[in-house]
Amino acid sequence: MWRTRIETAKKLLARSCSANSKHAQDVRPFEDIPGPKSLPVVGTLYKYLPLIGEYSFTRLHTTGLLKLKRYGPLVREEIVPGVPTVWVFRPEDIASVLQAEAGLYPERRSHLALLKYRKDRSNVYNTGGLLPTNGADWWRLRREFQKVLSKPRNVAEYLEDTDVVVQEFVKLCQLEKIDDFLPLLSRLFLELTCLVAFDVRMNSFSEEERRPDSRSSKLIDAAFETNSVIVRLDNGPRLWRYFETRLYRKLRKAQSYMEEVSQQMVSQRNQSTSIRRKKSLLEEYSRNEALDIKDIVGMSCDMLLAGVDTTTYSTSFALYHLARNSDLQDKLRHEATALLADPDSPITLEVLSNAAYTKAVIKETFRMNPISVGIGRILQTDVVLNGYHVPRGTVVVTQNQVTCRLPEYFNEPNSFVPERWLRSKDRTTRESINPYLVLPFGHGPRSCIARRFAEQNIQVVLLRMCRNLRFTWCGGNLGTKSLLINKPDAPIKLEFECVNA
Ligand code: HEM
Repeated sequence: MWRTRIETAKKLLARSCSANSKHAQDVRPFEDIPGPKSLPVVGTLYKYLPLIGEYSFTRLHTTGLLKLKRYGPLVREEIVPGVPTVWVFRPEDIASVLQAEAGLYPERRSHLALLKYRKDRSNVYNTGGLLPTNGADWWRLRREFQKVLSKPRNVAEYLEDTDVVVQEFVKLCQLEKIDDFLPLLSRLFLELTCLVAFDVRMNSFSEEERRPDSRSSKLIDAAFETNSVIVRLDNGPRLWRYFETRLYRKLRKAQSYMEEVSQQMVSQRNQSTSIRRKKSLLEEYSRNEALDIKDIVGMSCDMLLAGVDTTTYSTSFALYHLARNSDLQDKLRHEATALLADPDSPITLEVLSNAAYTKAVIKETFRMNPISVGIGRILQTDVVLNGYHVPRGTVVVTQNQVTCRLPEYFNEPNSFVPERWLRSKDRTTRESINPYLVLPFGHGPRSCIARRFAEQNIQVVLLRMCRNLRFTWCGGNLGTKSLLINKPDAPIKLEFECVNA
């Protein structure tokens, strides 16, 4: 099947090349793409220097908007001299980038230091894992893990346990008075990630586990620490290839803790503390002869790394918007009450399939506050973007976060309007939205492997919270800070009140 896809892609490519050749004279060369001036040795890194630089790695969206205004919808930049990156803003160009990889192994250039860390430890890992690996090695892992992890029936199998954890969490919200709600949300999503990765309850809400030196606290810190150094390790001179830099040491320490816990959990799977279920993902992987323990440990580390901060931050932003818009929160509560007449009744697949407003709230949250500035790819074929030739091998990064806030693509782009995603009876009032604008989980075969789990978890959290609680926002405006994953740039200040059944 894969071979057929590759053949089809080759035919499509040949066809598009011959079509393109007619217009070849109109296509402008790669070097002419506008962008900031790159200096010898330092590239454009000088523009990212704290205090004096106008760009910032932690404000990638405002930096992106600045480039869009100054250079137009396609920008070429050499952060490192000789390594051009192209920032792509127009949805039609985003579509061209993603369509060009059909039938091929989509490649990313990211998590380079993580790749080195894992390759240096061949006694623990076979590969760099899903996040940094490209080519046939990536597909070998992806094919085997997605068979299990992305299957709707398997995801549904975890719904009941997820709901139990979320109910515990909702009870805590009523009891606790805290200045920043984010650490508690991280505990919730660590708990839910470990449920799927290891079939264990971490008891992260317990007093013992809330201590800073507990296993769950250290795992949350390790994921955050790794994610927050990745962008800086990927860009710049990459001296960590030759000696251990300060940032690389942070990554190494964080990863070595994560790996120690993953190894323990995977090998102790049969202990009595494990949750018994009809279908366990871990058991399925272990039975698969195409995978061994090193692959499974690598995958568990990837899940801890990619699973906790992403869902924590997305849920934080959803709660922020709902807390600031009490009428929308009431609408979601209305849906939750209709679907769960008895507040203690379980959330089933049927409940989720009817939770249209909840899903619209999540989609609108992803439009306004995606966890990533866009999708990164190494082009597998030459493409023409905005009239310029962009050669195969170029690193491109789509700028969906910036484009999703532009008035040419969305009515009232800075307002939180879940209704824009709802099918209205009166179709004329529905916004027509380009499908390449809101892509929170990426696109195609390289998209988020755990998308169904992530969506299920966030849906359950919002339904339960709105069914049982009313919440108000006690902070100021909330923006994002890019640390690979976009983190809220201020504490999550919420106040809760119980809603009577
Ligand atoms: C709201 C939650 C989440 C969002 C928005 C999200 C988003 C993403 C995005 C944008 C990518 C890159 C896609 C691409 O390049 O096309 C990705 C990849 C990935 N995500 Fe997620 N993610 C979420 C939750 C999770 C969870 C819960 C896990 C695991 C438990 C996870 C595991 C992964 C892995 C392993 C990859 C790499 C896949 C590959 O390269 O084949 N993610 N995710």
